[in-house]
Amino acid sequence: MSDNVIRMAMVGGGPGSFIGPVHRMAAELDGRIRLVAGAFSRDEGRSKAAARGYGIDPGRAYGDYRQMMAAEAVRPDGAQFVAIVTPNHLHFPVAKAALESGLHVLSDKPATATLEEAESLARVVADTGRLYGLTYTYTGYPLVREARALVRRGDLGDVRKVVVEYSQGWLSDAVEKTDNAQAAWRADPAQSGLGGCIGDIGVHAFNVAEFVSGLGVTRLNADLNSVVPGRRLDDDCNILLRLGQGVPGVLVASQVAAGDRNGLRLRVYGEKGGLDWCHEQPDVLTLNWLDRPTQVLHAASPYLSPAGRGPARLPTGHPEGFIEAFANIYRDFAQAIGLGQGLSGTAVPTIHDGLRGMAFVARAVAANGAGWVDL
Ligand SMILES: NC(=O)c1ccc[n+]([C@@H]2O[C@H](COP(=O)([O-])OP(=O)(O)OC[C@H]3O[C@@H](n4cnc5c(N)ncnc54)[C@H](O)[C@@H]3O)[C@@H](O)[C@H]2O)c1
Repeated sequence: MSDNVIRMAMVGGGPGSFIGPVHRMAAELDGRIRLVAGAFSRDEGRSKAAARGYGIDPGRAYGDYRQMMAAEAVRPDGAQFVAIVTPNHLHFPVAKAALESGLHVLSDKPATATLEEAESLARVVADTGRLYGLTYTYTGYPLVREARALVRRGDLGDVRKVVVEYSQGWLSDAVEKTDNAQAAWRADPAQSGLGGCIGDIGVHAFNVAEFVSGLGVTRLNADLNSVVPGRRLDDDCNILLRLGQGVPGVLVASQVAAGDRNGLRLRVYGEKGGLDWCHEQPDVLTLNWLDRPTQVLHAASPYLSPAGRGPARLPTGHPEGFIEAFANIYRDFAQAIGLGQGLSGTAVPTIHDGLRGMAFVARAVAANGAGWVDL
């Protein structure tokens, strides 16, 4: 393996899991990162089976992530960072153990299961000086980065309103009571954490709204619901927002929007017009102007800014999607490790974003139905 290749371990991502294999494909897409070890399942046999499926040495697959970290730490070719792709309740203990053993961490969202854990994790990140990134996937899309760049540049004028929706329908029935592993842990407060839908997809919507608008949410007024009878966590969220400079906003997230698939849509309106980006058509960014015809920007076009053009791997008209969006985060993260730099000059979400996401979940859950509260 070349010296330039960054070595990655994974916790989670065992047989039948959803996002672990996506992380693996994304991490290795550009040839800069190689998966070398993992605790892919808490069951050692399943962990080794996953290793064989990933084409890595089963001798470097463990049922216990602490054992994996201890073994990797003493190898000259040991892992340099850990990708965390377990259910939410393990994000904090795994990230803490990894950072304290000297590894960098790239974790999936939400950062932790509770706000207290996120606060504690922020201290561990600061104390260890290791890199901690979060895969808020949508920040990896080239046209989301373009949207951020054009808001920053002032193309829309001052931002006046933000509308973000994340609409799914796959939890419209109590599928957590069937053999659906992904639904089972998401509906269990012990594994999902404080939030149901809000922690699962509401945090993505919250993050992408802040990322593109450049404004932080300062207040919120939450109406969270458990629509499916017997469900213990929310499966539907309707939240009024107040962002910096008093800008009003709306966040709607639902997993009981029957028939919807993965409908993340962001609209940001300024004085001169509004931008509109939808995840199900990610290679198009629409700009609706107050005083001139609508403009449609296409991914990978030469007229985009470096922030929007740079991450694309293919010429315009050759669609890139979810895996490439993850890969853009991985590429930036690997580059920061390679250069021995921090994440501040990159677009990779950090512990700061993780803390904000968990504060959002905690405040909305605690003040559900109680009117406006500060974030
Ligand atoms: N960024 C995104 O777009 C996105 C999309 C989906 C899921 N996620 C996040 O990814 C995480 C995983 O979600 P999923 O849908 O892939 O779940 P999943 O149920 O499909 O996979 C979870 C995996 O973790 C493993 N695991 C559980 N306990 C473990 C332990 N102690 N040690 C090692 N492995 C263990 C399971 O065996 C399984 O392989 C969640 O935090 C979720 O919020 C993010």
